[in-house]
Amino acid sequence: MKTKTSAPGKLMLFGEHSVVYGTPCIVTAVGKRLYVEVEKIDCYDDELITPQIKECTFVKETLKVFKEKYKIGECVKVTTKGDFSHQVGLGSSSAVTVALVKALSEIFKINLTNKEIFEISYQITLNIQKVGSGFDIAAAVFGKTLFFKTGGKIIEEIEVGKLPLVIGYSGVKADTPKLVKSLKSKVKSNEEKYKKIFEEIGKIVNEAREELINKNWKIVGELMSQNHKLLQQLEVSTSKLDRMCEAAAKAGAWGAKLSGAGGGDCMIAIVEDQKRKAVEAAIQKVGGEIIDVENSTEGVNLI
Ligand code: PMV
Repeated sequence: MKTKTSAPGKLMLFGEHSVVYGTPCIVTAVGKRLYVEVEKIDCYDDELITPQIKECTFVKETLKVFKEKYKIGECVKVTTKGDFSHQVGLGSSSAVTVALVKALSEIFKINLTNKEIFEISYQITLNIQKVGSGFDIAAAVFGKTLFFKTGGKIIEEIEVGKLPLVIGYSGVKADTPKLVKSLKSKVKSNEEKYKKIFEEIGKIVNEAREELINKNWKIVGELMSQNHKLLQQLEVSTSKLDRMCEAAAKAGAWGAKLSGAGGGDCMIAIVEDQKRKAVEAAIQKVGGEIIDVENSTEGVNLI
């Protein structure tokens, strides 16, 4: 018998980097998902069919941690399939980890709660990457749009529904753990400077939460652009991401910012319907690729 699960990717809306230092962030789950199929096999070793090498690392670690924790001796065949490439930074590693933990929990009848799936999956990603807040794991488990504090100290849904976002991919794959570690060493050398920036970002995140609930998109957009300026001060943006955000704003977006660790991956803009086409064209004109995905989607599920 096969157990099939899926989990969504994510986009950081507000508060990247500062979330690692204790302030909150806001993340939304996206319409691109990772699918996992697990079946018990009569064999000496697990069989893994994963199209991406990166996913394979997470699958192996998940099997190791899960089997040790729940003292499982049986072997499984794991097949993964993704709606999205790991290149664009939408969180395929966290989605595959969460979907596999859920599938193993079902097939071995452990009946884990979502909070337990979060805890185990977060530990697995920390074993591999050493750093990270776990916001991507929370999005994969709980879905929707979430207000989140590092390690899952707070995970609360923001009831906002679909957000009018445009997403542009910069064409460059970001190395998130490397960027987080490099900021860490800068913070060590000038704690006062960075503490101030993180506090300012924290304020923006709290305001953004209220304005999202009120669907006050204009202010949400202004807060996005302010958040982007602070990320520039953290020196994690790139000239390409800056150009894409500027182009979006010039074409009439309410606001724009990079999304995630910076150094590449995606930017987001919040845009009224009538201006969507113009904003998309402006981002493309400066070399960005439009990624068409829904947001605030469902968390991990059985299929
Ligand atoms: O690069 P992404 O999309 O995985 O986002 C990283 C966000 C950080 O705040 C920089 C790190 C983290 O784990 O919160």
